[in-house]
Amino acid sequence: MQTITSVFEMQTLAEDLRSKGQIIGLVPTMGALHEGHVSLIKLAAEQADTVVVSIFVNPTQFGPSEDFTKYPRALEADVAACEAAGADIVFAPTAEEIYPKGYSTYVIEEHIAKPLEGVSRPSHFRGVTTVVAKLFNIVRPDLAVFGQKDAQQVAVIKKMVADLHFTVDVVVAPTLREQDGLAMSSRNRYLTATQRIEALVIHRALRKAAGMVAAGECRVDRLIAEATHLIAQHRRVRMIYTSIVDRTTMEAVKGEIVPGKVVMTIAVWVDEIRLIDNELL
Ligand code: PAJ
Repeated sequence: MQTITSVFEMQTLAEDLRSKGQIIGLVPTMGALHEGHVSLIKLAAEQADTVVVSIFVNPTQFGPSEDFTKYPRALEADVAACEAAGADIVFAPTAEEIYPKGYSTYVIEEHIAKPLEGVSRPSHFRGVTTVVAKLFNIVRPDLAVFGQKDAQQVAVIKKMVADLHFTVDVVVAPTLREQDGLAMSSRNRYLTATQRIEALVIHRALRKAAGMVAAGECRVDRLIAEATHLIAQHRRVRMIYTSIVDRTTMEAVKGEIVPGKVVMTIAVWVDEIRLIDNELL
């Protein structure tokens, strides 16, 4: 496995691999890799001849008051995890390499990016689409793997791919969870033992809604009320949103859901730690 930090070198190598007929799979990440990321790399390895994992803490997707400088960085351990998971190339550029001085071009998706995460993090998806478009142009992968954990990110990227005629196949991997149901996240390492126990209510609320749907309850207000009620019982957990939205457009569903077409998404603060999760209903 090799580690590359230069855009030019990455482009040249990818071009060479492509000319040899290799199917290239890309797994974009911000590092601090956990088992969730590893499952994406393994999925890419099943479908591609060469797997590129990008590790880049993307400054443009963090708001001014967010945790960019505090975001965990662990390049050495990450490189080892990539190799163990079956990656062939780690692409770990510097911020100057991706955003040279005077950089001024951005990719913006204007609809799907607006609700949910877009409300409390207004420039977040602009940063995500910009960096992912760059990674697609640098690596020109045949397929790219993203996690269902970030349901809105998946929807926004699929729309960007369609709108901008990228030829990459977007592959979505299921959310990997801890044994107790907590969705794996690089931010989980900030949770104290008490906070972690409180955070379990997110998945419990999602499972509760899924159970209600399985029992025939399709009314959106009932499903949201039940989830909200569970979350409200936890002193350290503050709800940012609980919403049932169309999986493709991220538009809020009114009235009754059509099972199989929607996703329930939850974002909360557990004290000062922001966590998101979702469940397909
Ligand atoms: P990051 O948070 O590092 O996540 C990288 C990828 O791992 C994303 O596709 C995310 O959905 C997926 N992932 C995270 N936790 C997961 C879990 N528990 N199970 C399955 N997949 C999981 O998402 C980003 O980085 C950035 O926005 C990025 C796309 C790299 C652009 O900067």
